[in-house]
Amino acid sequence: MKRMAGERLILALDVEPPEKALGLARRLAPYVGTFKIGPALVLAGGPAFLDTIKALGKALFLDLKLYDIPETVARTTRQAAASGADFLTIHVAGGARMIGAAREAAGDRVKLLGVTVLTSFNQDELEREWRMEEPIADRVVFWAKLATESGAHGVVCSPLELPWIREMLGPKILTVVPGIRPGGGAGDDQRRTLPAKDAIRLGADFLVVGRPIVAADSPEAAAEAFGREIAEGGG
Ligand code: C5P
Repeated sequence: MKRMAGERLILALDVEPPEKALGLARRLAPYVGTFKIGPALVLAGGPAFLDTIKALGKALFLDLKLYDIPETVARTTRQAAASGADFLTIHVAGGARMIGAAREAAGDRVKLLGVTVLTSFNQDELEREWRMEEPIADRVVFWAKLATESGAHGVVCSPLELPWIREMLGPKILTVVPGIRPGGGAGDDQRRTLPAKDAIRLGADFLVVGRPIVAADSPEAAAEAFGREIAEGGG
């Protein structure tokens, strides 16, 4: 069966108010497989907004990046599952018990994705602010292993860590990859980036793209171009 070019493209619907986000979602539905919604839009639009997005027939990704004690995360995860979410993010830093509690609450109704090290961090900041001495890739691989062994279905990582994840953890681990910028390098607040084609070649399963599409002169043309790049990268 032929796959739609944009099936592996996750659109970060990072715009408010909800009416504007919905207008954009309607225009871009033909080009993407999933709509990703963060806390700002969940708060602005509420459950009714999530239902409207779901009705567009695409997967729904709630990017809540949960990080709390296990019981609290489990309760939020249950609500996310009830809202019809297909993907939900939790921070791997929350630990194995937290991830396990979330998985128990989610079952297989929601794909739980463990956020490793945010793509907005670079090595210098982590040395200063986390006192992290190891290379970022080591931490990301360690956390990806911890996340999946604790019950997460997959991980969120930058494109730069994909080679290490694939080498150390194999082809099966589900990878969802933000930090996609046409020229690579730092863009907006992102620090660890690569172009879409390279991320796919390095083994990304899904790409998350926000501003390069939503802030483009023609979001449709930008989304279509990302779909083409994914296909060229082997997607
Ligand atoms: O606009 P841009 O393409 O940078 O959007 C990336 C999206 O991916 C944002 O919604 C951001 O919250 C999310 N994200 C990220 N880095 C992570 C996890 C999620 O940039 N590690």
